[in-house]
This record gives sequence, structure tokens and C-alpha cells, in this order.
Amino acid sequence: MNGPEENISVARIQPLVSIRGLVRIFSRGPGFMGREAEISAVRGVSLDIAPGETLGLVGESGCGKSTLGRVAVGLLEPTEGEVYIRGRPLWDRKAHADYRAFRRSLAGDVQMIFQDPYSSLNPRMSIGEAVGEALRCSGALRGEKLAAPIVRERVRVMLEKVGLEAGAARRAPHEFSGGQRQRVAIARALVSSPSFVVCDEPTSALDASVQSQILNLLRDMQDELGPAYLFISHDLEVVRHMSDRVAVMRDGVVVEEGDAEAVFSVPVHPYTRMLLEAVPGSGRAKPGAPPQTA
Ligand SMILES: Nc1ncnc2c1ncn2[C@@H]1O[C@H](COP(=O)(O)OP(=O)(O)O)[C@@H](O)[C@H]1O
Ligand SMILES: [Mg+2]
Repeated sequence: MNGPEENISVARIQPLVSIRGLVRIFSRGPGFMGREAEISAVRGVSLDIAPGETLGLVGESGCGKSTLGRVAVGLLEPTEGEVYIRGRPLWDRKAHADYRAFRRSLAGDVQMIFQDPYSSLNPRMSIGEAVGEALRCSGALRGEKLAAPIVRERVRVMLEKVGLEAGAARRAPHEFSGGQRQRVAIARALVSSPSFVVCDEPTSALDASVQSQILNLLRDMQDELGPAYLFISHDLEVVRHMSDRVAVMRDGVVVEEGDAEAVFSVPVHPYTRMLLEAVPGSGRAKPGAPPQTA
């Protein structure tokens, strides 16, 4: 079996996440003349993500970004290919003596933040319960550390880190604005100190001013807690602001990949140039201009 190890020179650290030859085909049920209609959402993608870095994944709606992200965190099975976390295959059951224990061990280590924070929160749970549940289910705490006062204190600290006021823990999701709910979603995802987080359009549903606050929060949390991000967005300026490296996706394949500043200032692939020229008011996006902060 081809592991990700073979591409790595001695000098380089092992990638945290290695995606190899990933293909995901969806069945659309019987199509024309009863033939099975299929859609190839991801058609052979290989990417590496180093510990603590942000890989931006950009491309137009429908190009397969979310599908790739869901496969990478273990939510959606690939049709072909593999995802390695620290060199261990995420989807190959036969490669692990105890596959279930391996997958359980990833619960707190691999997380996802979605676009719509409301649908990812249980309306009946208080914010404190929701973040506490995420912590307890993550496996990050064991034995005596699972005691209610210890969990409550970790939740309190986490809610403070994401900028929610002290009383937030007792309140319900509907009492919060979209931006505050995304802060809760970030607290839930990061409370177990994961090493890999897929952020799938985390600010696309928010107003521009709130958007930059949430982006800055994600960056601050990365500085403090050190997770690697796969940061998915259709918005090139947002991806530029967030990413160390960028992969440009089109129709299920990655057409260009490289250092973020290089890709945005000297795009090689015609499709990347076309995307950049389509950014409103840019002609070509200006180098080094982050989105305005509120
Ligand atoms: N569960 C699904 N069933 C069928 N088709 C799907 C499913 N999820 C995504 N697709 C299709 O796969 C393609 C890629 O979708 P997606 O990964 O959501 O793209 P993006 O996130 O870049 O907008 C789209 O054509 C979409 O309609
Ligand atoms: Mg998507």
C-alpha cells in the first residue's frame, strides 16, 4: 500500500493530514432510461496539511470543497483514495487492529466548523451544555477529570477565550446573534484542543463586519491553541487573509496549489487568474490587503 511517507524527505516533518487520490462519487438515483445518474464531486485530489498551518481551499460553488472537507474529517466515506492522519489511514478499517478505538481517538482531535452555526446547535441545550458535551464526548478528558466542576471550568475558560460574556453558558442558542453563535461553534470545535479543524465557509452567512471579527478569532485561536485549518471558502479575499498555502479547486480537481501570496500575486493557472479577475473592484486583487476590521 502506498502511504504518504514515501514522498517525504528526511528533512521535512510528517504532514498532519495527507489526502491521497481522493475520489467521491454521488449517486443521483435512476436517471435517463433508468440508468444510474452519478456525479463526481471530487475526482482525484491529493493535498498535505502540516501541523499548525492553514491550507485555504477556494473555488466556485459546487466544485467539491465541502465534499472534500467532510471526507477529510471522517464524516463522509471516499469512493477511492485515502486520508492519513499522522500517517494512519482514516478510512481503511483493515489497516487498524482496533479501528473503532482509532476513530474514537480522533473525536476530539479532528473537528469541523460549518457555515450555519444555528443548525449545528441543539436548540434545547444551553450554550454551556453544548460546549460541555463536546468536551466530554471528545475523549480529551479521562476519569476524574470528567467531573462536572472540571468540565464546567474548562467550558467557562473556552467561552471567555471566544469572547462571550460570563452569563452566556446558561443561555440558549436562540438568544444569540449569528456571529455569537459562530463563536459558540468555535468554542465547541476547539474545546478539546484538536490538531486539525475543517472550517467550511465559517463566515459566509455573516455580515461583513462580523465576518472579520470571526476570522480574526479563528486566527487568534490558532496562535493560542495551534490547530491546523483546512479553510474552505468561495471568497478569495477571505482565503488570502487566512491562509499560509492555497489550493484552487475546479470541477472536483485541484488546478493550482502553492504559497498563498504566490498564488494570489502570480497565479499560474488560467482558472486562478479568472477567479482573481472576477473579485469585485479589484481588476486584480491588491497584494497584502486584508479585509477591513470592524
Ligand atoms: N449528498 C450529496 N448527494 C448528491 N450530490 C451531492 C451531495 N453532496 C454534494 N453533491 C454534489 O457534489 C458536487 C459538489 O458539491 P460540494 O462539495 O457541496 O461543493 P462546494 O462545497 O464546492 O459548493 C455538487 O454538484 C453537489 O450537488
Ligand atoms: Mg460547500
